[in-house]
Amino acid sequence: MLPALAAGSARLAYLDPPFFTQRMQRLSARHEGQVFEFADLWAGQHEYAVFLGECLSEVRRVLSPDGSVFFHCDRRAAHVARGVLDQVFGARHFRNEIIWQYRRWSNARRALLPAHQTIYHYSKSAAYVFHPMFVEYSPATNIDQILQRRTRDARGKAVYARDEAGRVLNGGAKKGVPLGDVWDIPYLNPKAKERVGYPTQKPVLLLQRIIELASDPGDLVLDPCCGSGTTLVAAELLGRRSLGIDASAQAIALARRRLAQPMRSESALLDKGREAYRAADAELLAELGDLELVPVQRNRGIDAILRAHVAGQPVALRVQRAGEPLEEAARLLLRAGRAARCGRMVLLAHCAEAARRDPEWPEQLIVIQSVRAQLERALTAQA
Ligand SMILES: C[S@@+](CC[C@H](N)C(=O)[O-])C[C@H]1O[C@@H](n2cnc3c(N)ncnc32)[C@H](O)[C@@H]1O
Repeated sequence: MLPALAAGSARLAYLDPPFFTQRMQRLSARHEGQVFEFADLWAGQHEYAVFLGECLSEVRRVLSPDGSVFFHCDRRAAHVARGVLDQVFGARHFRNEIIWQYRRWSNARRALLPAHQTIYHYSKSAAYVFHPMFVEYSPATNIDQILQRRTRDARGKAVYARDEAGRVLNGGAKKGVPLGDVWDIPYLNPKAKERVGYPTQKPVLLLQRIIELASDPGDLVLDPCCGSGTTLVAAELLGRRSLGIDASAQAIALARRRLAQPMRSESALLDKGREAYRAADAELLAELGDLELVPVQRNRGIDAILRAHVAGQPVALRVQRAGEPLEEAARLLLRAGRAARCGRMVLLAHCAEAARRDPEWPEQLIVIQSVRAQLERALTAQA
């Protein structure tokens, strides 16, 4: 199929081939119970490198002179892919090694938990389409660094620009900090709406970022191993044309179905930012003093779990929110604690009625008054 495409017709190619895992990749689809699979079995590294070389040579031919390829791989064959990419595109056309990092849960083993994949960006020539992106300044950035204009001194060192009187000059509107090459984008969680059950399916968000960086609206985006069609969906959502190829008829049928209703799951984590979660949690956790606990994020009912179990069962903790009725705080904690099969649930209450127990509450729920509430009560009694 690739050889049939006209030379120079695509602005961008994203290639996400089998990763050299040496196994069948198999997964069942979410709704229909259908099993999707593709083979990732090779006689050895040489055979894999030959496959990549043939595919990448065709990709290079199909790219426009100002086009780019983004090649997705992981620890198993990143070294092989990098060599092949250097050969086909030329080492001088290497642009970035992007680390896509994500959180994962897995059992402990005698090695570090793999939590990233690698995406190599190569351009076809030195003049390639690239739209820089910017992110927020880090919280440690001071106001001077944000506002003031930078220039270079005689030795080429970056310094603040000054007027004749030596006063520091303000710069124009700042766009933020250029996007770095480590991308923190959540892996598709099992309940994500866009998840279709294809093995190794990538998030639309990841593809949208790549497409925005290296193409313009109306451009043709090519994915020669398109699987469930993530690239095509992302391209469609961003007003690009797209072309997907896959060895599996199952994958093509699935990609067609996704394209009929292109959508992306929203990520609250990304919209609010991981730091926002941490900051909010830090305030609450401070209320729990220096107890040995494991903070729990993104759970409406539980703020933390005691590190040590009691009577062989976990203990869930929750801090009553400002303005939250005690009954509501207790209800949320009980529900989440039961779902997590906690033996006890401890509610740290800020209100005076914490001492009064609702007779409906089970024994497992322990309500204690925060130091702040005790202090307020003591002071009110004295006044
Ligand atoms: C890692 S998956 C792609 C997943 C995809 N990015 C997604 O988000 O769903 C690799 C795909 O390459 C396909 N593939 C393997 N060998 C191929 C070949 N020679 N030509 C085209 N596709 C191939 C497999 O069928 C599989 O769908």
